[in-house]
Formats: sequence, structure tokens, C-alpha cells
Amino acid sequence: MTVALEKTLADKKILLIISGGIAAYKTPDLIRRLRERGAIVQPVMTPSAQEFVTALTVGAVAAKPVYTDLFSREDEQDVGHIRLAREADLIVVAPATADLMAKLAQGFANDLASAILLARKVPLLIAPAMNPAMWANPATQRNIVLLKQDGVQFVGPEIGEMAESGESGLGRMSEPLSIVAAIEAALVPENLPLAGKRIIMTSGPTHEPIDPVRYIANRSSGKQGHAIAQALAKLGADVQLVSGPVTIPNPVGVHVTHVETAREMLQAVEAKLPADAAVMVAAVADWRTANASDQKIKKNPDEAAPTLSMTENPDILATIGHHHQRPQLVVGFAAETNDLLVNAERKLIKKGADIIVANDVSDVENIGSVMGGDHNIVHIVSHEGIEEWPEMSKEQVAGRLSLLITEKLTK
Ligand code: CTP
Repeated sequence: MTVALEKTLADKKILLIISGGIAAYKTPDLIRRLRERGAIVQPVMTPSAQEFVTALTVGAVAAKPVYTDLFSREDEQDVGHIRLAREADLIVVAPATADLMAKLAQGFANDLASAILLARKVPLLIAPAMNPAMWANPATQRNIVLLKQDGVQFVGPEIGEMAESGESGLGRMSEPLSIVAAIEAALVPENLPLAGKRIIMTSGPTHEPIDPVRYIANRSSGKQGHAIAQALAKLGADVQLVSGPVTIPNPVGVHVTHVETAREMLQAVEAKLPADAAVMVAAVADWRTANASDQKIKKNPDEAAPTLSMTENPDILATIGHHHQRPQLVVGFAAETNDLLVNAERKLIKKGADIIVANDVSDVENIGSVMGGDHNIVHIVSHEGIEEWPEMSKEQVAGRLSLLITEKLTK
């Protein structure tokens, strides 16, 4: 017995650009699965894609003519790259090679695929596939940053063995079903579990001025907070992020307000109430200088070094945790060098939070590997108990935490 699939993509028009990597052999399967869900798929192939899979196969599975040339008289008269770029609901590039990503990042338009991509006005999702060394190359990494800044959505790549060389690493194209899920998320956001939920977040450090050119700061990079904002947005939440000064790009699809000091951060957070949840990840400075100068403090050989006098900053998490407009769910972080869990439980109560994500920063020699680094070991402390999570990348912590938040907000 065959079970009919739900038409989650009914009548959605997808322009699928296939570029020239070995993973192109998976695209007929991708097309079949998209069509099973009701999508209309218009394929475009680069010349090198046709070395891996024929236009005949792709066209047959899509039940559509395949466009391949920028200057083919027939193709241009029939459609034109501008129209192709505009009439889809979503453009998908699978596989996206390093070369295609470089062209896309720089705005080249010397073949049909890149001309369509430059002329597009609709969202774009790419599924990169390449050798791990090519993915890791600084040139590709630079292009990824540019593409994300331009709002391009990514699915994958995954870790796995390369078909051609047997090498293992990050670079394998996501499986067709993962690409389908990413397409559904991009096209049908109302089906996402956090659709309609407003979540206020803080991330990054704060800078507390000493004088117009000097400030007190901390080692927070914003990586963990921004990754959580991104993961929540991917689940459909309306994420309102208040970020301290960071050098990383804004997460895609997130509303970002940039601030400098703790007091500005509190003001921005309160202005965003009411909300369904608050997730406070910022490393807010506990103190600011009470005697900040409006002018640059000068060295004076006749005087002793200046003394900084400090005063306490507002506690943003505690303010929100005890607010008359308190969100249904309040999540905080706790970085501790000692008595991790005891201190985290204390913060849970004192700050009126529902969850404290506790991370151990006791390894002071390696403090940079947590603050500013890419990995995190956390415990989830709540009124229901303590859960220990294994060491994960900050993206993985973000993914798992956003699922926990979904569970709490939708139960
Ligand atoms: N936090 C905040 N405002 C502050 C200080 C902290 O919102 N002024 C939030 C952080 O965003 C985090 C949590 O409170 O979610 C805990 O931060 P942490 O620095 O670990 O705690 P502190 O309150 O600073 O406590 P201590 O310095 O005593 O460890």
C-alpha cells in the first residue's frame, strides 16, 4: 500500500539550479521528492552539471524542459533569464559548488545560472557540496560570510565521506530529504513550530565607557547568542535580538538592535516587551564607571594615576524575570569558574528564570576556548532538575536549546 504524501509544497514554484559537482547525481531524487509534495520544479543546469547528470534525465523527472544556456536562442526567446529569476517562489542551488558560490558572492553573471542568481528578487537557498579542503579554504569561508550577509540561506554541507576521493570532512551535500525540509521551512514558515512566537534575546558583551576613547569590556564574542537567535528564527520565531558590540554578522531573518552599554541594552529589551520568551545570553558588565569623563583623560606627570570608581549596572535578566510583563519563558546563562551548579541554581531563583544554561569557565588557561571559541559544555538547570549535555559546537548547543524552548513554548 502506498501512502499519499501531504502536499506541503502544493503549487510552490521552485527554480532548481544544478551546478557541476558529483552530488548532482542526487538531484533527480530531490526533484522527485519535491514534486511528490506538490511543487513545480523548473531545472536549470550549468554546462559542467551536465557532465554528472544528463539534462534528459533531469528534464524527464521534472517533466519540464531544462534550461542550460544564457545565449541559446530558443531558451531566451521562450523565457529569458530575468523572467526565470522572477517567477519562482524560491530559487534553490543544489549542489552549489565552490565556484558557483564565489560567482554568487561577487555578482558575476556570465552564464545562465549566475545571471539568474544576480537578477533574482526571490529568496535563495543553497546546498553546498565540495571537497572538505575547498570548503575550509579561506576564500570559500569569506564567500560564505558574504552570502550570509546577503540573506542567502544554507542547508548543509554535512560531514561525510567524499564520493570521489574517500576523504572525510565537512563538504558533503545534504541528503535530498534534508534539502526538502529546508525548502519547506523557507517557503511555508507558518508551518514552523515557533511561527507567531516573539522572542527577545541579548547577545555579546557590553562596553562601559571610561572616557570617549576607552571602555571596559569582556571576552564575549556573541557567537553563542547569535547562533541561538539564528536557530530560533529558523524554527519560525520572530526573534528580536539586542546585541552588544560584536564583529560577527547579524543572524539572517532576525531583527537586530545594536547597543553599547548595559543601560542601553536594558532599555532596548524593555521596549520590545511583551514577548513569549526572553533568552538572555549577553555577558553584561556588572559594573560601569561612576565617574566616566566626557573628555579624554590625559596623562599628567604631576598627578597619580586616575582611580576608576564603579557603580552597579541593572541586571537585565532579573528585571525581565520579575517584570509585570514577564514572558512565559525566561532563559538565562551562567558562566562560572567554581560551584557551577550551586551558583546556577541560585541564579535561577534570584533572577526569576525558568532555565539557566550553565557553562563551566573554570579552565582559566583556556578561557578563550569558551568565550570567543566555537565549543561549549553546558548544563541545563531548571526547576525540574539538572541535565548535562555533552561537549558540542555552539551551533549544536543553539539547535538543541531552540528545540527545548520550542517544547516549553508549545506544550
Ligand atoms: N545578566 C544580565 N544583566 C546583568 C548581568 C547578567 O542580564 N547585569 C544575565 C546574563 O545575560 C546571563 C545571566 O544574567 O543570562 C547570568 O550572568 P552572569 O554574568 O553569569 O551572572 P552575574 O549576575 O553577573 O553573577 P556573578 O557575576 O555573580 O557570577
